[in-house]
Parts: sequence; structure tokens; C-alpha cells
Amino acid sequence: MQIEKTVAGVKAQVKAWKKEGLSIGLVPTMGYLHEGHKSLIDRAVAENDRVVVSIFVNPIQFGPTEDLESYPRDLNADSLLCEKAGAALIFAPEPSEMYGEDFTTFVDMSGVTGELCGKSRPIHFRGVCTVVNKLFNIAMPDRAYFGQKDAQQLAVIRRMVRNLNMNLEIVGCPIIREADGLAKSSRNTYLSAEERQAALVLSRAIKTGQAMVQAGEKDGEKVLAAMRQLISEEPLARIDYVEMVKWDTIEIHHRVDCPVLVAIAVFIGKTRLIDNFIQEQTI
Ligand code: PAF
Repeated sequence: MQIEKTVAGVKAQVKAWKKEGLSIGLVPTMGYLHEGHKSLIDRAVAENDRVVVSIFVNPIQFGPTEDLESYPRDLNADSLLCEKAGAALIFAPEPSEMYGEDFTTFVDMSGVTGELCGKSRPIHFRGVCTVVNKLFNIAMPDRAYFGQKDAQQLAVIRRMVRNLNMNLEIVGCPIIREADGLAKSSRNTYLSAEERQAALVLSRAIKTGQAMVQAGEKDGEKVLAAMRQLISEEPLARIDYVEMVKWDTIEIHHRVDCPVLVAIAVFIGKTRLIDNFIQEQTI
């Protein structure tokens, strides 16, 4: 497995693969890889001839008071995981390689970025769309893989690819959870033992909401109220949002009469965690 730090290095390799007629899968990540990322890499390896994993903590998607500096990094452990999983290349650039001194071009999107994480983190999706666009141009993948845990991000990327007529397929992959239900996240490492226990309130709320919807509850207000109530009983938890939106447009929608995304963001101490479920069918 190759580790490339430069855009030119990745482009040269990718062009050589393309010349041989090989298909390319891209798994964009910020590193500190866990089972969730591994599931994306496994799927990409199964569906493509060569897999590129990008590992880049993208500064322009973090707000000024967020965790850019403290975000966990471990390129050695990440390389081992990628190699074992069968990736062909890791792209691990420095910020200066991605954002030269003359960098002034951004991909901005309205509508689908207005609610949920887009509301709480105003510059976040502009940074995500810009870097993902760059990664697509660098790795030229046939397919790119994103986890459903960042459901709004998945909807945003799908919209971007459609709106800008990009030539690749976006593959969404299911949430991977710890044995006790907590959704896997690199940010789980911030949690103290007590907070780790308290963080289970997220998956419990998701389970509760999902069970209500699957039992036929169509009133979104009732579902959200039950979830908020459950979370408010955990002293270490502070709700950022608990919302129901249309899955394709991410517009607030409190009726289960179309595919809906129920998404939550909750601070456990200082750590902001997210979780969600998607109800595709109306029951
Ligand atoms: O989901 C992430 O880890 C990041 O937002 C992504 C897609 C790698 C862009 O930096």
C-alpha cells in the first residue's frame, strides 16, 4: 500500500490505474479510523479494483470554537487498518498541500444545509463540500463511500454531485455501533468513563423514536417529544437538536408520510455526538 502526501503523487497513480481500465473507489475520512470507516473501506474494496482512502483533518469545516486542534490523529494505526482492509493508497496531505496561499474558491450550498448540523455549525458544509470536491478531482473515483451516521452530509454530497453533474456514484453505508449501541465515532475518544456511559442516551433515544415510528406513530411531534424527554433525564446530556426532516431535502417535517430522517445532536459534557435513523417507508 502506498502513502502519498501530494496531490501530484495521487493524480499520477490514479491516471496510471485509469489507463489500465481499473475502477477506483474513494473513502474520504479525517483519520483515527474505527470499525465504521473499516466498513466503508471493506465495501469499497468489494466494489472497486483500487481503493483510495483520504486522511485529512480538514481545517475549513471546523468553526473557530470547535475541536480542530484536539481532533485525534494516528497515521500509523490508520495505515495498518487500511493495509489490512485492502486499500491500495492513502492520501494524507498537509493542510498547505490542500490549501495553497492563493486558495479562495469554495463550494457553497443552500437549502439542504439550512437545518440540523448546518444550523449549529454554519460554515461546516461549505468546508465539507469544498474538500470533498477537491478529493473527487484528485482521486477521480468511480464511487465514493460515506457513512449514514453523518446523514445530512450524505444528503448534501448527493445533492452536490447531482447539481454539479459529477461523474461518480455516491454509496451510503449503514451506521456501525459499539456492542452497547453507541454509534462509532472518532470523537468517542474524548469521553470520560462516566460520559461514555451517559452517551448511551443517544442510541436509546434513537431506538425509542424508531420503535414508535415502526409501530405506526405518524405524528413527528410525539416521536420527538419522547426522544427529548428521554435525553433530558440524563444529567450529563445537553440537546443541540432533536429533529425530523424529509430525508431528501432536509426540510423540517413532523409527519411520517414520506421518507424521513430523525437526527439528533447531543453534547455529553463538552463532546458533541450525533446519531440518527432513517424511515424510508411509510407504514
Ligand atoms: O465525514 C468526514 O469525516 C468528513 O466530513 C469528510 C467527508 C472526510 C470531509 O472532510
